[in-house]
Amino acid sequence: MGRLDNKVAIVTGAGSGFGAAISHAFAAEGAKVLVCDINQAGGDATVQTNPSALAFHKMDVTQAADWKSTIDAATQKWGKIDILVNNAGTSYRNKPTAEVTEEEFQKTFDVNVKGVFLGCNAWLPQAIENKQGGVIINISSVGSTRPRPGLVWYNASKGAISNATKGLAAEYGPHQIRVNSICPLVTGTALFSSFTGMEDTPENREKFIFNVPMGRIGEVDDVASACVFMASSEAKFITGVNLEVDGGRCI
Ligand SMILES: NC(=O)c1ccc[n+]([C@@H]2O[C@H](COP(=O)([O-])OP(=O)(O)OC[C@H]3O[C@@H](n4cnc5c(N)ncnc54)[C@H](O)[C@@H]3O)[C@@H](O)[C@H]2O)c1
Repeated sequence: MGRLDNKVAIVTGAGSGFGAAISHAFAAEGAKVLVCDINQAGGDATVQTNPSALAFHKMDVTQAADWKSTIDAATQKWGKIDILVNNAGTSYRNKPTAEVTEEEFQKTFDVNVKGVFLGCNAWLPQAIENKQGGVIINISSVGSTRPRPGLVWYNASKGAISNATKGLAAEYGPHQIRVNSICPLVTGTALFSSFTGMEDTPENREKFIFNVPMGRIGEVDDVASACVFMASSEAKFITGVNLEVDGGRCI
């Protein structure tokens, strides 16, 4: 028995990092997953590991038309969509905030905030109509509550997501739709260099562990496991929570 047997999920940004790990973990627990990404090669690589449970759909979270095709693709393939994981995200490279360009700001908010807005607006009507409840998981960041120098507008975009998570939970609770966010610590994904302003090397990773009580940075499985729990019926009365997965960093 898998913890997500008979569930159907959409995971965005699933061609890399957390999104790939979440897709693999959901499939291992019995879910069918539409692996969504703007990057075809990354999405194909994610699907290759478990093609009977995973299917790739190329889409850009910032485009409303792409969200329509995403909902249509998952519904046509599996008949319903129980779980939406808004994971796709981006950042400019860590630098003095007064040097962030308007283009960098716009891209960060388009992908990290508008992408989640469009995703929720596309997914919610079918969930309400199906009357079976459902789950939204937004991938936020520890930076949503603990912003650091050099990433001010990235962190502000995640602040919007942690705030919207609570608002959505309050509004859609009566439909038995749960909305939670996961707030990861820095992790060695493709975004490591943007967040830290350094190359992703073992030596540079060591520079970020001294103030983490559990003595390491994040791993993609830490976030994937938290998402499985939040998506499963084990979390059936948990909504509106921004869950830090950070080894105690935010204490
Ligand atoms: N890695 C960290 O340290 C860390 C910490 C906290 C939060 N996060 C968040 O985790 C999420 C996943 O990031 P990651 O670290 O796995 O990075 P990643 O770069 O490995 O993966 C992000 C994926 O999103 C996809 N993507 C980007 N823009 C897209 C768009 N417009 N439409 C569709 N797909 C798009 C990319 O192609 C990529 O496959 C992001 O929301 C990020 O902000 C990451």
